[in-house]
Amino acid sequence: MSRRRILLTGVNGQVGWELRRTLSCLGEVVALDSGTLNLADADAARQKVREIAPHIIVNPAAYTAVDKAESEPERAYAVNAAAPGILAEEASAIGALLVHYSTDYVFNGSAARPWGEDDVCAPLNVYGASKLAGERAIQAVGCPHLIFRTSWVYGARGSNFLLTMRRLMRERPELKIVADQVGAPTWCRDLAEATAQVLSQIVSPASGFDRTAPWGVYHMTNAGETSWHGFAEAIQALDEFDETCVPAHLVPIPGSDYPTPATRPLNSRLSNDKLEQTFGLRLQDWRTALALCLGQSAR
Ligand SMILES: NC(=O)c1ccc[n+]([C@@H]2O[C@H](COP(=O)([O-])OP(=O)(O)OC[C@H]3O[C@@H](n4cnc5c(N)ncnc54)[C@H](OP(=O)(O)O)[C@@H]3O)[C@@H](O)[C@H]2O)c1
Repeated sequence: MSRRRILLTGVNGQVGWELRRTLSCLGEVVALDSGTLNLADADAARQKVREIAPHIIVNPAAYTAVDKAESEPERAYAVNAAAPGILAEEASAIGALLVHYSTDYVFNGSAARPWGEDDVCAPLNVYGASKLAGERAIQAVGCPHLIFRTSWVYGARGSNFLLTMRRLMRERPELKIVADQVGAPTWCRDLAEATAQVLSQIVSPASGFDRTAPWGVYHMTNAGETSWHGFAEAIQALDEFDETCVPAHLVPIPGSDYPTPATRPLNSRLSNDKLEQTFGLRLQDWRTALALCLGQSAR
């Protein structure tokens, strides 16, 4: 019986980097960066999947430059919409399972409660629309798939709010931070661990997987909620500052005072109930995750 092969895209991204480790207990991980597998090149991507012939494809790769996407929608759609459809077609052809990631930005943020998986999607920006198109492309192919929608991803490496705040808090006396957008900061490591835990419930001892598993969309974020301002305050409270450093004063502002090319939803909260009911999993509270992340990040 052949060993399970897992094709992992975007290995240098926040989530991809963590997945390489967490997936390794489930099989041989063939981890590719954007140089080896360029998802914007449809023919090359198909060719690469056929070469590797994986049992599972895990796709955290994405065009994630939310503001830049407004001025280059073709690039965002190629990676976030067309490529997931291609991966789904290839998965379908070889009987593989596709695991994909999506975003809170598929919603318009207008609800007064956390969004459920079946709530109506109405993205406010190109990035969100391209990610929604990717979800729909996978669903249209209909291969076995899991789509994990997450939010506000950060980690000890890469480009994210945590690292930007840690730098700016040391450089500036005052920072104005948006306080009227709420969501759940999510540690990329928790996302990767939870992905592996879900997969461990679905894969069978040999290289196969349970074909009757409850495929579909699941929300997967750290528990709890806060605003960007609350997130910044927690970073400042948990971070260690040099005794000569006076940490920045954090001023709450409405999003309307911080205009960006892409409009962001006010309510980014995602209900994780379906994930818990189906797989018995609930990710730890965002503050606990942040403390752990800060404890292991390079100072
Ligand atoms: N970051 C967030 O706050 C957030 C929030 C909600 C949902 N998500 C979703 O979560 C998933 C993981 O996000 P992340 O934060 O880990 O993203 P990330 O750190 O920005 O990493 C994205 C990865 O995708 C790769 N990539 C970009 N274009 C590519 C292409 N044409 N071909 C192949 N690879 C390409 C990048 O490669 P290079 O490094 O070589 O460019 C990078 O490794 C994505 O699906 C994202 O949409 C993220």
